[in-house]
Amino acid sequence: MSFNKKTIEDVQVNGKRVLVRCDFNVPLKDGVITDENRLVGALPTIKYLVENGAKVILCSHLGKDASKTLAPVAVRLSEMLGKEVVFARDEEVVGENARKAVADMKDGDVVLLENTRCRKEETKNGEELSKELASLCDIYVNDAFGTAHRAHSSTEGVTKFVDTAVCGYLIQKELKFLGEALENPERPFVAILGGSKVSDKIGVIENLLEKVDTLIIGGGMAYTFFKAQGYGVGDSICELDKLDLANELMEKAKQKGVKLMLPTDTKVGKEFAPDTESKIVSCKEMPDGWQGFDIGTDTIKEYVEEVKKAKTVIWNGPLGLSEFKQFAAGTDTMAETLANLTDCTTIIGGGDSAAAVERAGLSDKFTHISTGGGASLEFLEGKKLPGIECLQDK
Ligand code: ADP
Ligand code: 3PG
Ligand code: MG
Repeated sequence: MSFNKKTIEDVQVNGKRVLVRCDFNVPLKDGVITDENRLVGALPTIKYLVENGAKVILCSHLGKDASKTLAPVAVRLSEMLGKEVVFARDEEVVGENARKAVADMKDGDVVLLENTRCRKEETKNGEELSKELASLCDIYVNDAFGTAHRAHSSTEGVTKFVDTAVCGYLIQKELKFLGEALENPERPFVAILGGSKVSDKIGVIENLLEKVDTLIIGGGMAYTFFKAQGYGVGDSICELDKLDLANELMEKAKQKGVKLMLPTDTKVGKEFAPDTESKIVSCKEMPDGWQGFDIGTDTIKEYVEEVKKAKTVIWNGPLGLSEFKQFAAGTDTMAETLANLTDCTTIIGGGDSAAAVERAGLSDKFTHISTGGGASLEFLEGKKLPGIECLQDK
């Protein structure tokens, strides 16, 4: 999929009202933003529009419903931009307050609308909200890569009611790195897939088996592959209804000549708790009553050797229960290894994987960390993203 959408640089923005859909769906703890990656990701587009004299109207969802306000985002964005971001507090999102705030704007001003999910039709792609959003602007820009897999009023529906709908720098950047890796990777191309369940990643595994030289499997999903081969897995997370699928995937890897790597040893714990008793065992001899929570030391070595040979690596999903320190070795060692590769494009897709790299303080050592969780997964599955499809072609 080569990139052929119009961008903000293809349109005249000076003096125009430009509505930018961002993904400001950030984690909050006691009103404080605990991960700012999505805000940082949105800055280049906002700055470009401000510098080029647009009236910049920002919108986003936050959380699953109407319960959260974007007010803390307005405060933090103001600090990051060094410029006031006026928060248009308005339960109707595009109600009287928002309209007034927009009407009062001068060129270069920035206004943030309230959480688009304050309107229940947002997630149903309701026309009324789409039309109201469209009425606020002359130009619509989608830069919400993290929400591009949703066809909602503010990400897709709105484009039916505007003359101009283009993408911003973040979407462009995400597609450049994720897209180039899938389309034209420098080889060897290695994918690392982890996370808890194979059922979350079926589409990704199937699509990547068409593209990669090596597929490394870790995390909870590994145990379904072991069970499928007839080994015991103790009390590890295992999807019994996916055993045939696991066998099919292993067969497909063989047919495609893809090296599929599964753990050879694993760190098991007695209970799902940070300080539970633990030990490392062979994957072929997993004891009853124990659960596999991380890859073992031999596996870590094997995986590290493999990625050191790679020229392109895509990583989705932690290799173990990395939230607990004693089960984070696989994930942390992989993060450090990738961070230190000098001649390799390293890409992270997936919210928990990005958080693990962040926790290790290694974020700036990767070529690209996607701001999309579900969106990057769907992209890696080879699906088209509706929030991008609906934008104008060059
Ligand atoms: P991402 O958000 O990067 O796509 P996922 O959401 O698929 O990743 O997976 C992350 C989750 O998988 C984490 O909560 C992690 O604790 C869990 N996980 C990883 N390995 C195991 C395991 N062996 N047993 C149980 N849960 C695991
Ligand atoms: C995300 O965090 O993955 C995006 O912001 C989309 O959020 P959603 O899953 O609530 O639609
Ligand atoms: Mg996740």
